Amino acid sequence: MIDAAISPSLMCADIFRLREIVDGFEAEGIEYLHIDVMDGVFVPNFCLGTDYCRRLKAGTAIPLDLHLMVAQPEKKLDAFPVGPGDIVSVHFESTRRVRDALRAVRDRGAKPFLAINPDTPVETVSDCLAELDGVLLMTVFPGFAGQKMVPGSLERITALRAMLDGAGCEALRIEVDGNVNYEKAPLMRAAGADLFVVGTSSVLGPGDVRENVKKMRALLRREGQK
Ligand code: DX5
Ligand code: ZN
Repeated sequence: MIDAAISPSLMCADIFRLREIVDGFEAEGIEYLHIDVMDGVFVPNFCLGTDYCRRLKAGTAIPLDLHLMVAQPEKKLDAFPVGPGDIVSVHFESTRRVRDALRAVRDRGAKPFLAINPDTPVETVSDCLAELDGVLLMTVFPGFAGQKMVPGSLERITALRAMLDGAGCEALRIEVDGNVNYEKAPLMRAAGADLFVVGTSSVLGPGDVRENVKKMRALLRREGQK
């Protein structure tokens, strides 16, 4: 089982305390910073942008976990400061050129992940396994924080893990994004997820951020030891 890692969704962070929050993540050894990028076309919302990513890169060594909720991501990558160590997720539903988009990520030295919406069959990823380092399995429909997990998401994680392992892709990560709270995260871990996007539902919700990270880590560690 791949070690569990945490990727806080910065669209959920209090912008007036961002430096303090990121310092806390560094102190807790957070593995990635989840950056939601939205174009108002692929999803009916706008969110974080290129300058935000550049300033973040200049201010912390924590790798970026870029979630591109944009149409034709293969044409947008040059605008972002991504490179070795970073993850870039492109949505299967956002382009007719999925393989080109994934290759463009790899060409920049970053890790290509394929993001799939809750109503996209998990079997969809089987066509491009060779181009992937992971799958971003959306547990809510993309575009907004604070939503509730779509029913059937746990079963989808299990099915995806079984499919990846059955194809000899045990090293491919499964990232989950949306309503990852303290009760659901262990269930998602048990189902086969290993990278957890945490937002308003847990780490960037009420309470001290560092204590919230410790609580989430303990829950994930306990589940992984079963
Ligand atoms: C939604 C984003 C998620 C969201 C997670 O489109 O991809 O990253 O910010 O926030 P919560 O944890 O509130 O669902
Ligand atoms: Zn996201």
